[in-house]
Amino acid sequence: MKKRALITGITGQDGSYLADFLVAKGYEVFGMLRRTSTDPLMRIVNLYEERKITLLSGNMRDACALERVIAEAKPDEIYNLAAQSDVGISFLCPEETFEINYYGVGRLVNAAMKENPSVRIYQASTSEMFGKTKPPQSESSPFHPVSPYGEAKQKAHDDYVVGYRNRHHLFICSGILFNHESPRRGKHFVTRKITHSLAKIEAGLQETLLLGNLEAKRDWGFAQDYVEAMWLMLQKDQPEDFVIATGESRTVREFFETAARLIGFKIRFEGKGQDEVAKDEKGKIILKIDPKYYRKAEVDSLLGDASKAYKELGWKPKTSFEELVRIMLEHDRDEVRAMAAKKR
Ligand code: GDD
Repeated sequence: MKKRALITGITGQDGSYLADFLVAKGYEVFGMLRRTSTDPLMRIVNLYEERKITLLSGNMRDACALERVIAEAKPDEIYNLAAQSDVGISFLCPEETFEINYYGVGRLVNAAMKENPSVRIYQASTSEMFGKTKPPQSESSPFHPVSPYGEAKQKAHDDYVVGYRNRHHLFICSGILFNHESPRRGKHFVTRKITHSLAKIEAGLQETLLLGNLEAKRDWGFAQDYVEAMWLMLQKDQPEDFVIATGESRTVREFFETAARLIGFKIRFEGKGQDEVAKDEKGKIILKIDPKYYRKAEVDSLLGDASKAYKELGWKPKTSFEELVRIMLEHDRDEVRAMAAKKR
């Protein structure tokens, strides 16, 4: 019999890659879909139209809906990827963030246990939980979150992953994933904002890219590589938590410089602090700082130590940093060219 998987957050970057992965593995894949006024199917339109996945209406705020979705899907494995995933927005909407990223996890886990106590659950935890903890960060590093997003995720990890594993012997694992990017990333996250904006500037469709803190360091991997690690965690004999990362860390400035170089801009920086700009060889300003994008509290430096995953899951990232930037740029240049052609 085919294994059955339920993915919450199936319309997002990770959910869509995981759906591709599990369909290819022969799973019967169910996705929970939250009603929105905009089209949510953008990333999974092919899987949906070719009837490779089944979508069920539900919502992390609604325990009845979660019970119904789980009763219909009858999953062997649940991947909880639904979240308010924007760290910057979590400072503006802390209640909403806790509602989905903490209470929502509780609703899901309780509903899942009621239906099938031996279900296996993957919880999307995050390097944002480490916050101010000095790099490198591993499974044994302490958590010091600085954002409502990081706090809600840490609380969900403590109460519903570690807590339910110990108290109820539930098979539940946290994937502590460091930043993972792709052409399917939302354009408000810094990497995609950079690649998409540079593609538009190249095509003459945007003047300047506006960014906040250029000095924050992140461990950036390719999202498509990371979904395999989620699945591997649920195939283990015992539930455990794993850090998933590349073990390399770069600043936002370095991401911008790499993308600019790959697209062919010869960039030089001028000025300091909020007055700093980056110009191309003709002196045109490509990048400006907009303090609006600074955060109330910043996670300065993330660098993951994923040696446990390398050893115990046999997982390793396959895509280098430069390759990742290239993949995102190529996609965005094509997308922008198609957009420009439509306008003509
Ligand atoms: N979004 C954004 N927009 N970030 C900016 C900008 C900007 O204009 N300018 C500078 N940054 C800096 C942020 O201050 C942060 O230090 C860094 O770029 C990365 O920001 P994001 O791309 O928004 O990602 P994130 O690290 O806050 O969070 C992502 O990774 C987490 C894993 O650590 C999200 O995907 C989270 O959901 C995920 O858990």
